[in-house]
Amino acid sequence: TKAIQIAIDGPAAAGKSTIAKIVAEKLGYIYIDTGAMYRAITLKALNAGINLASNEEAGALLTATEIDLIPVEGGQKVLLDGEDVSEAIRSQYVTKAVSEMAAHELVRKRMVELQQKLAEDRGVVMDGRDIGTHVLPSAALKVFMSATVEERARRRFEENKKRDILTPLVELQEEIAMRDKMDSEREVAPLKQAHDAVFLDTTPLTITEAAEAILKLAEERL
Ligand code: C5P
Repeated sequence: TKAIQIAIDGPAAAGKSTIAKIVAEKLGYIYIDTGAMYRAITLKALNAGINLASNEEAGALLTATEIDLIPVEGGQKVLLDGEDVSEAIRSQYVTKAVSEMAAHELVRKRMVELQQKLAEDRGVVMDGRDIGTHVLPSAALKVFMSATVEERARRRFEENKKRDILTPLVELQEEIAMRDKMDSEREVAPLKQAHDAVFLDTTPLTITEAAEAILKLAEERL
């Protein structure tokens, strides 16, 4: 059988990465979490103390930065200038700042190039905000995954609890809603369902059910 590209987009905390990982594993494809790349450059910007709103400063930082995604058992490792930042990029500190950094045209251009190179000539499941619309416009399967903001906040809350992160539910819901707003309203490659994407509402679905729905759609395209 041939290998296809699967693009999974949607708002924050919709379960994209959890489900994308399962789908990739089942198909023997690589999984690429593009949000991790925007998080990594944001972490560097915060550490460097640059003005996140400045195009010039973001661009200058970018040229001196190396970001690598290394596929590992059950996911991927994120390297920022050779250092493993897989955990550090998940902090609230980075989460709250990432949408501002991701709005810069220069930042997106560089990330998209990297993402397209990673996906070249192989079976891939890639998740993000603009995969179906910009990064992999000819992907054989595009899914736009969503759930109510309440449900997404609740899931993130439960997930955090397992890692001893105790951000209150209301704060999570606010942060998620704010990020969705910024990601949808930005000028460059905003969060948007591709016209040829399949909409999947995961509100009533378990992780297994959502993964199975996507695997079924994938099989129809193999
Ligand atoms: O997927 P995740 O929640 O980790 O993404 C973090 C942020 O990175 C998003 O809120 C968005 O601002 C940005 N992002 C993006 N385009 C992508 C993936 C993520 O702008 N393809």
